Amino acid sequence: MANFKKANGLGEWLDQRLWGKALVKVLMTEYWIPKRINFLWSFGMVLATLFTVLVVTGIFLMMYYKPDEGMAFYSVNYTIMQEVAFGWLFRHIHAVSASLVFLFIYIHMFTGIYYGSFKSGREIIWISGVLLFVAFSAAGFSGYMLPWGQMSFWAAQVITNLFGEIPVIGPDLVIWIRGDFSVADATLTRFFMLHVFLLPVVIIGVICLHMYALRAPHVNNENGEEIDFETEAKKYLAGNKIGSKVMPFWPKFMAEDLFVVCLVFALFSYLVFFSYGFAMDPINFLPADPLKTPEHIYPEWYFLWLYEVLRGFFFSSGLGLIAFTIANVIFFLLPWLDRDPLVQPMHKRPLVKYWFWSLMVVLVGLTIYGKLPPTGVNAWIGLALSVAFLGLMLIVLPILSACERKARQ
Ligand code: HEM
Repeated sequence: MANFKKANGLGEWLDQRLWGKALVKVLMTEYWIPKRINFLWSFGMVLATLFTVLVVTGIFLMMYYKPDEGMAFYSVNYTIMQEVAFGWLFRHIHAVSASLVFLFIYIHMFTGIYYGSFKSGREIIWISGVLLFVAFSAAGFSGYMLPWGQMSFWAAQVITNLFGEIPVIGPDLVIWIRGDFSVADATLTRFFMLHVFLLPVVIIGVICLHMYALRAPHVNNENGEEIDFETEAKKYLAGNKIGSKVMPFWPKFMAEDLFVVCLVFALFSYLVFFSYGFAMDPINFLPADPLKTPEHIYPEWYFLWLYEVLRGFFFSSGLGLIAFTIANVIFFLLPWLDRDPLVQPMHKRPLVKYWFWSLMVVLVGLTIYGKLPPTGVNAWIGLALSVAFLGLMLIVLPILSACERKARQ
């Protein structure tokens, strides 16, 4: 067995191990990050940390959870919450992390949009990011089903029903997805498999792709400046650390990231211990009852904007489904909807900045109206916001970005 001296800090501890030495070498010489970045560039690491927390707490929850129609609700609300030592803590940490992951995904995603980090060779970083968003959405949805409360059951009912709107194959597809003629035990078991196995494996794979894609063509910066990473890295390694425009991932960038991760964990602890209710719907503390529809069915806060796009076209469920499908895939196309290849932050873009802030207002509006009952004037506001969202993405962005490009030539 190797005989290690007492290490003085993490760096020395890693240096004493062969694998640690190899990892540090790669992170110190292969991964370079521009210096001109701000705290918003730390949210990638925050997300990686939260995903780890979700996996670890999920493994502990799985030890007592029963994926069975008759037992799921009690295994969560009785066994885990009351019988198992600290079961409640693991459940709160898991639920709060799930909610915060979406908050930080949105921050990370809109940072990428604000600074134009999705274009000019960074398409794979962007597409793998949107894939992560989709995979996390599926994981969030399948996980929400597991406590088998009223909201779990009825949300599954509403979302699986959507597939029935697809022409010709719709009705058969719904039965295939549910594994039964209605949402039932077979549905719960397969969503359990998706949540604890298939989706985490897919997410880990896509995170690796996302991180690998960051190496080439490299991370963007606050000004969108084109940096010759090789020359700048050589400068740094030759000792000109101040003059170089880049810094190594380890330990410089990592140290800054860890600071933001610690701040996030202060908020995280507050939420876990004092305000965990925000991540759980009170209606979901009632056991699933297929004979009693809740008065209002709505998803968790992070899906409300999408849900409102679906409900917005209240006069036609077919149109709603088309809008919902577009909203789900439209972010993949962003690098091509923005017709100006120049990478610039929004505050330097004379026209597209209006598009960005309008999009923010519309998304917040959709989120607010997604929670309200879709009756009377709410239904019309929901329709206007849904049309505005589609218009901003499909029409306004291509036109404004093309005008900007033309004006510069
Ligand atoms: C769990 C999910 C994710 C993890 C762990 C993750 C991780 C990271 C890390 C570590 C970075 C480098 C540093 C930084 O800019 O923060 C990064 C950059 C980036 N990520 Fe993610 N990410 C995730 C999800 C997403 C999503 C959902 C999107 C977009 C839809 C996205 C788009 C990007 C882009 C465009 C960059 C490049 C930023 C730049 O060049 O300035 N990521 N990601």
